[in-house]
Amino acid sequence: MQREDAIFCFLGLAALYLALRPAECVQWLALAKMSSQASIQSADTCEALTGLVKRQRRLCKKNVELMDSVKVGALRAIEECQNQFANRRWNCSTSDTKRLFGNVILKQGTREAAFVHAISSAGVAHAVTRACSSGQLQKCGCDRTVRGRSPEGFEWSGCSDNIAYGTAFSKAFVDAREKGKKRRNTARSLMNLHNNEAGRRAIEDHMKVDCKCHGVSGSCEMRTCWRAMPSFRTVGKNLKEKFDGATEVQRKTVGTRNDLVPLNAQFKPHTESDLVYMAASPDFCEPDKKTGSLGTHGRVCNKTSKAIDGCELMCCGRGYRTRPIVIVERCMCKFHWCCYVRCKKCERHLDEHTCL
Ligand SMILES: *[C@@H]1O[C@H](CO)[C@@H](O)[C@H](O)[C@H]1NC(C)=O
Ligand SMILES: *[C@@H]1O[C@H](CO)[C@@H](O)[C@H](O)[C@H]1NC(C)=O
Repeated sequence: MQREDAIFCFLGLAALYLALRPAECVQWLALAKMSSQASIQSADTCEALTGLVKRQRRLCKKNVELMDSVKVGALRAIEECQNQFANRRWNCSTSDTKRLFGNVILKQGTREAAFVHAISSAGVAHAVTRACSSGQLQKCGCDRTVRGRSPEGFEWSGCSDNIAYGTAFSKAFVDAREKGKKRRNTARSLMNLHNNEAGRRAIEDHMKVDCKCHGVSGSCEMRTCWRAMPSFRTVGKNLKEKFDGATEVQRKTVGTRNDLVPLNAQFKPHTESDLVYMAASPDFCEPDKKTGSLGTHGRVCNKTSKAIDGCELMCCGRGYRTRPIVIVERCMCKFHWCCYVRCKKCERHLDEHTCL
């Protein structure tokens, strides 16, 4: 339930929620909210999706077969955001109020907003590329430009991940929100566009080579290889590092160009792969509807850690409560001929600490 609320906040798909829809959410992320059975199969479905801006609706109609991947990308992005932020005060989730998350995302151009934009655009690029590689789409397939024999002596398979296609579609679809007349060239839209791009770079900058061996009993006499994307978990980890090192920027007009430049001129300029933000984050200690903070009351913390997951920082100095908990695990598993595994149940007694 909670996760679904989070997604709503991210944005507002169902008509029911329209009235609550924050003007500035990353609304297309609402696609993640569609049930997994519901598939976007026709141009009519595009018309019925309420989270999209006009330009996105047009793209949806032209690329209906890619839209399920957009949906998957949105879902993965939210899951991965929650995974990367599980042990921080802001944990990428929202509850009860439909718009909590939307406020973080939008009102201020914080680091958290930067991360959400980056991971979302990466989610779409990753999912679309994956779908292309599966060979089931009309519009795209593998990248067949990488082929022949490599200097290292292996054979390219001719079916590399088509990251160029995936990022191009992500750029067209995700960035469309920032191209409207009202938003164009505002400091905030420059920030969003930059972070959207940084998200896609977190894939492109980390492409790898995967190989398969052929030969008698795995001897690997012959290898075929292809360029492959990093796992989405790795993309999340890359972006979390960018979050930690994000640069605070401001808009600067140079001639007719609007650019984002570091607020502190002594800092080295950010690259296309870095995240940028314009507003300090709230401390997220107390619930606050204005900022979208849920507060950290009741959050589990680590008594011995000095980092942000430690009780001192997580609980903002308020102190914590300790209670014994019992964790039941399968253990001492034995394989029985043939063929099953039998395990014992073991109990582990631990203390759980939660913030006051
Ligand atoms: C995130 O934090 C809120 C409160 O701070 C809590 O209610 C929620 O369960 C947390 N979500 C996850 C996924 O841990
Ligand atoms: C708590 O933090 C300590 C020190 O950082 C770490 O070694 C330990 O694994 C953490 N415990 C849990 C349950 O995460």
